[in-house]
Amino acid sequence: MNAQELMDTARMLVAGDKGLLAMDESNSTCNKRLARLGIPQTEEARRAYRELIVTTPNLDECISGVILYDETIRQQKKDGTPFVKVITDAGIIPGIKVDTGAKNLAGHPGEKITEGLDGLRERLAEYSKMGARFAKWRVVITVGDGIPSRGCIEANAQALARYAALCQEAGLVPVVEPEVLMDGEHTLERCCEVTEEVLRTVFIQLYTQRVMLEGMILKPNMVLPGLTCPKQEAVDEVADATVRCLLRAVPAAVPGIAFLSGGQSSELASARLNAMNVRFKSRPPWALAFSFARAIQQPALEIWHGEEAHVLAAQQALYHRSLCNRAARRGEYSAAMERT
Ligand code: 13P
Repeated sequence: MNAQELMDTARMLVAGDKGLLAMDESNSTCNKRLARLGIPQTEEARRAYRELIVTTPNLDECISGVILYDETIRQQKKDGTPFVKVITDAGIIPGIKVDTGAKNLAGHPGEKITEGLDGLRERLAEYSKMGARFAKWRVVITVGDGIPSRGCIEANAQALARYAALCQEAGLVPVVEPEVLMDGEHTLERCCEVTEEVLRTVFIQLYTQRVMLEGMILKPNMVLPGLTCPKQEAVDEVADATVRCLLRAVPAAVPGIAFLSGGQSSELASARLNAMNVRFKSRPPWALAFSFARAIQQPALEIWHGEEAHVLAAQQALYHRSLCNRAARRGEYSAAMERT
């Protein structure tokens, strides 16, 4: 492991006002999103869609790294150029999702455990050879009646830490993603409590597994009320709750926090990230950045609709969302940007 290289890569991923673009949907998740729009769920459709994303002009102005999926990292443009080369030539750092998904956790009804540790050392070596410089592992924590349990939080936190240690051994920066899901009726206060407990547990495990915090990125949820909670706090309240929670639980040695969007609308995700950067300015020790999938991709996917003729318009939409999120990192985003 080259510690300096890991630290440099981690810092580059959150440098300036850029952020990450997650395009690492598994085939089944990608197919679901295509199906919703009536687009055929074929390998070629997934490839064409990902080609649209990675060839978006000037994406590097806003995006420091993209997260790929196993199928995607092996794919090429129609003209035969590998996606990894297209991305690297654009000055963007390629990354790879390496967990194999969340399965039911035995003995814990309604809770999930993320799998993928078996054979991970070998897969990381292969991805590194293919050009990946960072990796991602997502765990999902459901909030509900009597859950999450300690058993679920601890099992997932330990898996995250073991994954992160293996990544650093392979020279890849781990993006550590514990996601407290938005689904449910729970309040913002409850989300805050659960997020703090999850993050504290994750950082204890990262320490126990000897993960170098300076060479990782944290990818958490924002602290939000459940989707069906009757009380939906304003943007500034969400920003305050989120940063306060993170200040209590995330060590200052972590170079950057890159939020997932988790099903928020594109506009809200940008507005909330913006509010954090406005209200806390230079106070937090880490960069407050983004690593959105849906909140960057969704408008582009809808415009594309599987039609070659819509590629340019879809790329413009993808670029526009990336610009909005770059502005949010600077604290310069405003609703007016949505009308341009
Ligand atoms: P969303 O931004 O759509 O939540 O996706 C982020 C991600 O990478 C999920 O693992």
